[in-house]
Amino acid sequence: MGKVFEMDHPLIQHKLTILRDKNTSSKDFRSLVTEIAMLMGYEVTRDLELSDKEVETPLEKTVGKEISGKKIALVPILRAGLGMVDGVLSVVPGARVAHVGMYRDPETLKPVTYYSKFPKDISERTIIILDPMLATGGSLIEAIDEVKRAGATSIRTLNIIAAPEGIKVVQDAHPDVDIFIGHIDRELNDHAYILPGLGDAGDRMFGTK
Ligand code: PRP
Ligand code: URA
Repeated sequence: MGKVFEMDHPLIQHKLTILRDKNTSSKDFRSLVTEIAMLMGYEVTRDLELSDKEVETPLEKTVGKEISGKKIALVPILRAGLGMVDGVLSVVPGARVAHVGMYRDPETLKPVTYYSKFPKDISERTIIILDPMLATGGSLIEAIDEVKRAGATSIRTLNIIAAPEGIKVVQDAHPDVDIFIGHIDRELNDHAYILPGLGDAGDRMFGTK
């Protein structure tokens, strides 16, 4: 079963409260998502493989560490996942950025995929899927299916807010995927919005409605 990590760093909790506030502007919302994604990016990369590397300081030779395992590809789920890219790239600037475009059909609440573009060497990379909201889990399951179809085998996800119902279905569908979450909220409402949540992440980020 994939592991679930809830990140309780004080800075993430503080910024999340401002993000939830309905009076927070789109401009501030985007900045906060970037900052939270950067902090989460630090945690999601905590177990990256290291190997020894010799380095010469101005005084003597020594042995330091360098990241030596699989390279990383970020996969934001459009639209709202885009807001997390710059934050994570600030801690892993060399990562490739692939994209999956999907939206939730308002009637069926099922994801509709309209775009995907992956690097050729996706099977050799650790994939970090980015989406601020994990609600029913439908979008995330479909995005994981897409990257697996393209050849990925090492996958983790970064979600700022998640509903317990959604986490469970993602774990059941993809037991090999670890899920990193900023905060696990209470439940979904009748329209599959997360409670207390923050509303529609894409609309708040881009000022649409
Ligand atoms: C939101 C969110 C997730 C999805 C989560 O996207 O960014 O992708 O809903 O819901 P789920 O877990 O029930 O699938 P939305 O469909 O609003 O599209 P957008 O990002 O283009 O606004
Ligand atoms: N998508 C969002 O943007 N917010 C929710 O609460 C659920 C799905």
